[in-house]
Amino acid sequence: MTPYAQGRGWRIFRGDAMEVLTTLATAGERVQAVVTDPPYSSGGMMRGDRAGASARAKYASTGSQIADQLTGFSGDNRDQRSYLLWCSLWLGLCLDLTPEGAPIVCFSDWRQLPTTTDAIQAGGWVWRGLVPWCKPSGRPAMGRFASNVEYFAWGTNGPSPDLESIGCLPGYFVEAPPRGEAKEHLTQKPLETMRGIVRICPVGGTVLDPFMGSGSTGVGAVLEGRGFIGIERETAHLDTAARRLADAEAGMPERAAARGAQPGLPFVGGAA
Ligand SMILES: C[S@@+](CC[C@H](N)C(=O)[O-])C[C@H]1O[C@@H](n2cnc3c(N)ncnc32)[C@H](O)[C@@H]1O
Repeated sequence: MTPYAQGRGWRIFRGDAMEVLTTLATAGERVQAVVTDPPYSSGGMMRGDRAGASARAKYASTGSQIADQLTGFSGDNRDQRSYLLWCSLWLGLCLDLTPEGAPIVCFSDWRQLPTTTDAIQAGGWVWRGLVPWCKPSGRPAMGRFASNVEYFAWGTNGPSPDLESIGCLPGYFVEAPPRGEAKEHLTQKPLETMRGIVRICPVGGTVLDPFMGSGSTGVGAVLEGRGFIGIERETAHLDTAARRLADAEAGMPERAAARGAQPGLPFVGGAA
């Protein structure tokens, strides 16, 4: 299968995740970690919002002007039962690409958290924990708790080996999502957090992200000395990811992080 773009340690593929994962497995590819941020099929205030376009219906509150300018994305419209089924299928395909002991990290919001941890196990992974990603500038709610946390569930392919070379990783991450010019995808994850997360892959190993969007996992992986395989359906996001990955490979993390320098709030990695 021909990559859409590639560099020294990374390749990105255009297509449906399930099809590309199947092709990679048939070709005998192996990865040492899976780190991904699938469309949550959540968001919005009403059930009907889930059926709307991602840019307007669900993510407008992240800044409607920005949402208007950014390319939306598909695959975000499943109800909870079909989300569970779909996630179980691609999680099982990811498992087949990894050796025993390899880790998986899968982002979710609070609504889909129980479904996500069910799907991880249905896909054959051993679920091992939850790590919050706290956004210091989250949505305030009068008289209610602010909504400023997303999560990732993590697990392993079978037993979890002791890897002294990796050391202890944080139990939580605090970092603002990219804003303004730095935001190139509606649900883009912040770079220092992604750099911290991909350290779960042994140095020199390859990280797989079957829903890479603007390539944040890959940028983190390349900057941390890991290889990367990414999959994405939308051409606009593939182009963004290819540019960011090339910048990361060229040793320009600032350019990979943002089109224009827009420092967010400081990164805090919690103690393990
Ligand atoms: C939540 S976003 C990932 C954002 C990414 N973490 C970032 O920082 O830019 C999920 C991505 O998956 C892509 N996607 C949705 N369904 C897909 C599918 N079946 N196969 C491949 N990509 C898909 C969407 O186009 C979207 O860009």
